[in-house]
Amino acid sequence: MISENINIGKSKRLKDGAVLYPVKFHDVHEHSDPDTRHSVTKEIHEEMIPALEAHKKARGDLYKHAEDNHVTQALFAKSEVLETWRQSMPTAEALYPLQQPHRKKLADGTVFDEVAERYFPHALDGVGIRSRAAIMSHVMYEHFKKHKTTKTHPLKWASLACGAAIPVFDAASQLINDGKHISLLLADIDPKALVFAKKLAVEDYDIHQHITLKKSNILRLKRLRRRIGENSQDAIDILGFFEYIPANRWRYRKYKVKMMMPGAIEFLETAYSLLKPGGLLVLGNMRDTHPQLVFTTQIVRWPYIRPRSLERVMDIITQAGIQPENVKLYQAGDNVYTVAAITKPK
Ligand SMILES: C[S@@+](CC[C@H](N)C(=O)[O-])C[C@H]1O[C@@H](n2cnc3c(N)ncnc32)[C@H](O)[C@@H]1O
Repeated sequence: MISENINIGKSKRLKDGAVLYPVKFHDVHEHSDPDTRHSVTKEIHEEMIPALEAHKKARGDLYKHAEDNHVTQALFAKSEVLETWRQSMPTAEALYPLQQPHRKKLADGTVFDEVAERYFPHALDGVGIRSRAAIMSHVMYEHFKKHKTTKTHPLKWASLACGAAIPVFDAASQLINDGKHISLLLADIDPKALVFAKKLAVEDYDIHQHITLKKSNILRLKRLRRRIGENSQDAIDILGFFEYIPANRWRYRKYKVKMMMPGAIEFLETAYSLLKPGGLLVLGNMRDTHPQLVFTTQIVRWPYIRPRSLERVMDIITQAGIQPENVKLYQAGDNVYTVAAITKPK
C-alpha cells in the first residue's frame, strides 16, 4: 500500500536538469478540525509574528537573532506542557509530538493540555514535518516496490541521524507489508534517541527485528565510510540533519575542545558514496520562504536550523559531485520543506 495522504503534481524540469514536483499533502488534522487550524494560523500570523516584528523594530540594531523576548515568554507561559517540551529542543524527542500529534502526548508521556492540542497538530512546522515524512514514504516505496529482496539479501537502509526514526519506520513498514525483507541501520550520536527509537520499534511498529542501532558521530566521515562501507546501501536518509550544518567546513567549539567539522557538501559526498548504484538517498531542508519561519526560529526559538532556498539546496548537492539529472525535488503546499530524492546511476 503506498502513502495515500499525498498527491504528486505535474513535474517541471529546472534549468540545471533537476526535476521539481509540487505535492498536495492531505493533513488529517486540518481535515478533522479546520476551525482550530484556522484560529491557530490566524493567531500566529496576525498576533505573534507582528508582535515579534514590533519587538525587533523597537530593539533596532540591538536585536540579536532568536534572542529571548516577551512573545516567546507569553507563548510558553500559556502551558506547562509546552514549557516541558521546550526543554527537549532540538532532540529527536522534541519532534515526536509534531510527528504524531494524534497520540496527544510528549515523548516522555506528558499528556497534552488544551494549548498543546492546538499547536502540535496545527502550527505549520508539524504539518511540514508530517508532509516531508509522507514524501519520503512515497519516494522510497515507488523506488523499491519492484526491488527483489530475500532474507539473506534484504534491502539495506541506513538512516543517518535517525533520531526516533519515525519517518523511517513509517516508510519501511509499507515495504515490509508488501513482503520486502529490510535491514535498517539506525545511526545517531544521541543514545537517548536510539533508546527511544528502539522503544517505538517494539511498541508502536513491531519492526524491531529489522533494526540495528549504532551510536555514532556521522560527521566523522572516514569512520562512517569504513563502518558502513562504500556502495553498500540501497537506501539512505538524512532527513532532519542536512539542514543543521553549514555548507562548508565549520569550527566546532565546546568548552576547551575546538575542531573543524565537515559541512553539508562534504557530508553529502560521503553519504552518497555509501549508496549502491541504483540506490536512493533522501534529504530535506527547511525552506527560507517557510510562511511561519519567524514563529519557528524566533518565537519557538528552535535552534541551529539553516533554512535554504531550492537553488541553494541544489547548489550544495551539485558541489557534492551529484549530477542534477539524478535529483528529484518535492515541495508540499505547506511550503515548509524541500525534500530531495537523489539516485545513483547504475
Ligand atoms: C531533528 S532530529 C532528526 C531525526 C530524524 N532523522 C527525523 O527526521 O525524525 C536530528 C538528529 O540528529 C542527531 N545528530 C546531530 N548531530 C549528529 C551527529 N554529528 N552524528 C549523528 N547524529 C547527530 C540528533 O541526535 C538528532 O537525533
